[in-house]
Amino acid sequence: MTPLLLAAAPARAELPERLADTGFGGPALRAFEPRFALWSDGAAKQRWIALPPGTQVDASQPDAWRFPVGTRLWKTFSVDGQPVETRHLVVGPGGQLDAATYVWQGGEARRAPARGVVLTLPGGRRYELPSTGDCMACHAGARSPVLGFAALQLGPAVPALVRSGVIANAPPAWREQAPDFIASSPTEHAARGYLHGNCGHCHFSGGVPVPLRLALDVGQPAAAVDGAAVLKRAGTRNPYQQMPPLGTREIDAQGLAVLARHFQPLNPEIRP
Ligand code: HEC
Ligand code: HEC
Repeated sequence: MTPLLLAAAPARAELPERLADTGFGGPALRAFEPRFALWSDGAAKQRWIALPPGTQVDASQPDAWRFPVGTRLWKTFSVDGQPVETRHLVVGPGGQLDAATYVWQGGEARRAPARGVVLTLPGGRRYELPSTGDCMACHAGARSPVLGFAALQLGPAVPALVRSGVIANAPPAWREQAPDFIASSPTEHAARGYLHGNCGHCHFSGGVPVPLRLALDVGQPAAAVDGAAVLKRAGTRNPYQQMPPLGTREIDAQGLAVLARHFQPLNPEIRP
């Protein structure tokens, strides 16, 4: 983590030592997939949510859903088809979070130390597990602590979730119509969605103390941004300059190309 980040809140309590004891793999899990995934140095990811029985997600604030106490979420990271870690979040009272990541070895996963750990994968590749402070830096300060199970991230999956009662208090239109933001072209939609998914959990009004706003709102166009600055910071892994400032050591070449397709014609001088 760079020293410029806001101090992260500590995790509240210790989660179970074994992933199997968190309910992982149980029948209550629902898989989901955000439209604009966070780049994680090429790892493949799968995500699940489990709501306590009889509860619903509250969408009365369309861009900041509230989750019932006891909601559990998991995200498994795989490299070369092998699971490496499963990250786990539990929503506590007042939207507080418990967070941990579990390391897979020999068919089971155990909780990693809260300070994070560096693994050497088969083949010698270095793989870093974040500290719980890093989890909080992205999840705890955001508009909702859950980043991928959200209106703009689920998009076309939302109407079915509203109709089946998983989501309550949603705008009535969502029963038939997927929530989206306003973009003037598919190129802009892809680029601004990428920035929302990879940057918006820190760069929103009320987030990190810089004026840049990259989070999107349902039904609204994206705020104008300095495309050159965005391309420069997303296109470096100099630790004092790189964006996001944590959770990645490798440039997302494909993501950068998506950004360049939109921002370069607006800024012909940019050469990432
Ligand atoms: C660099 C920011 C960042 C860090 C650090 C980070 N996350 Fe996340 N996490 C995200 C984003 C963005 C998503 C949603 C997009 C996706 O899943 O690709 C997400 C998704 C998740 C999910 C699926 C539920 C959800 O919010 O959509 C879980 C579970 C999760 N993270 C747990 C953790 C844990 C535990 C840690 C620390 C060990 C951690 N994350 C560290 C940004 C981060
Ligand atoms: C974990 C939180 C976090 C995430 C995620 C994040 N940023 Fe930042 N960003 C910061 C902080 C803190 C600063 C201020 C310190 C600095 O300039 O390094 C900053 C500064 C910036 C600046 C300079 C703005 C200015 O006014 O000086 C740009 C440009 C930027 N970020 C772009 C991005 C982009 C693009 C992404 C996603 C690819 C992103 N950031 C993701 C925390 C974050």
